[in-house]
Amino acid sequence: MMRDFDSADGHMLIGGVRATDLADKFGTPVYVIDEQRIRKNYRKVYGAFSRYMETRVHYACKANANLAVLNILRQEGSGIDAVSIGEVKTCLKAGFKPSDIMYTGVNVSDGELQEVTDLGVMINIDSESEMERLANIRTGMPVSFRITPGVGSGHDDKVITGNKGAKFGIPRERVLDAYIRAQDLGFRPVGIHAHIGSGGSDVSPFVDEAEILADLINGIGETGIDLEFVDIGGGIPVPYKPNEEDADLDGMASEVTDVFEMNTDVKRIIIEPGRYIVADACILLTRCVDIKDAGVKKYVGVDAGFNTLVRPAMYGSYHHIAIANKFGRACTDRYDIAGPICETGDYLGHDRVLPSPAEGDLIAVYTSGAYGFSMSSNYNSRPLCAEVLVNEGESELVREKETIEEQWRHQRVPERLME
Ligand SMILES: Cc1ncc(COP(=O)(O)O)c(C=O)c1O
Repeated sequence: MMRDFDSADGHMLIGGVRATDLADKFGTPVYVIDEQRIRKNYRKVYGAFSRYMETRVHYACKANANLAVLNILRQEGSGIDAVSIGEVKTCLKAGFKPSDIMYTGVNVSDGELQEVTDLGVMINIDSESEMERLANIRTGMPVSFRITPGVGSGHDDKVITGNKGAKFGIPRERVLDAYIRAQDLGFRPVGIHAHIGSGGSDVSPFVDEAEILADLINGIGETGIDLEFVDIGGGIPVPYKPNEEDADLDGMASEVTDVFEMNTDVKRIIIEPGRYIVADACILLTRCVDIKDAGVKKYVGVDAGFNTLVRPAMYGSYHHIAIANKFGRACTDRYDIAGPICETGDYLGHDRVLPSPAEGDLIAVYTSGAYGFSMSSNYNSRPLCAEVLVNEGESELVREKETIEEQWRHQRVPERLME
């Protein structure tokens, strides 16, 4: 079920702190991250798999790469799935060792391959072209390959990544050749990886994916290459709607690990959850600044738009919405919740029943910790918002709100235009 929040005197509490106090102290819009929930989610996913097989969780830091979040996960013992040199360097800054990180880029430039290998981070090779180009930079090191399993799953077509013809990975029929070629080039292939997509509705595609990976592991084994790990990627779904069921994580872990244990000699499984670890650990707080009756519908106008949370506009995603200072009160009417961006597609929720919203109310947007801040932008020249960490009744700023002036810092105006 979607995560529930406690309240006190009609006020929503996040990590033991009143949402309204956080908004008053840090301003809005603001992402509020609950440290204990991140720890709990990490332990749940690690616990589910490690019961059956040696397990490594590589947190997919694209979901939220705040340094405080990364430090929490480092303390928990997590590794990292990184997709860019920026993510690699951010995770090193958070104290991860190069050996904790696996780099899974797509359409990677030679320059980025050079930088990542220079830092001692393992490359999960996405294409034969990338392998040949990497061989010109360095060989001798362990590598793994991302394969295209031909199984895809996701909450939206834009995030299905494992289907046949996808831009990610090496097609199944060429995988064995790629491993043989890698060895000929002097690499040490140690793993195999696939990622079917993000946030699909059930866990059965993971079992299909595991069966395909197991077949390939055995085929690769017949060429004399024994792999040390299999990485099944991320994509574990989370409930975004009040009555949505949780993913059957234990069932998934048991069925998937069964496939590898019964059919292969591979000993270690890597999983790369992003959404599962941070999505429900975070609430976006945004202030109601305007109420508008547009005749056929009513609007709650708030100070966060798709510059702050793009998922509704980009994927049509549902985020549950409540009024943090009228928590638990009876709902009165239907409203669209819309932001300050000058596009009709700028909304956080359509047709939501809310308890008499008024200017000044504090709107809580649930389950916004994954692909929330990390996908935010400066569109309409709006500064990136702050992030706050709450932990057992205490709150700390973990990202300052950007200033308008900071948006100009990398721009240069030619002298001749200044007259
Ligand atoms: C290679 C890879 N691993 C893991 C993930 C994380 O997915 P999720 O946040 O749904 O767990 C992604 C997301 O796009 C990905 O591309």
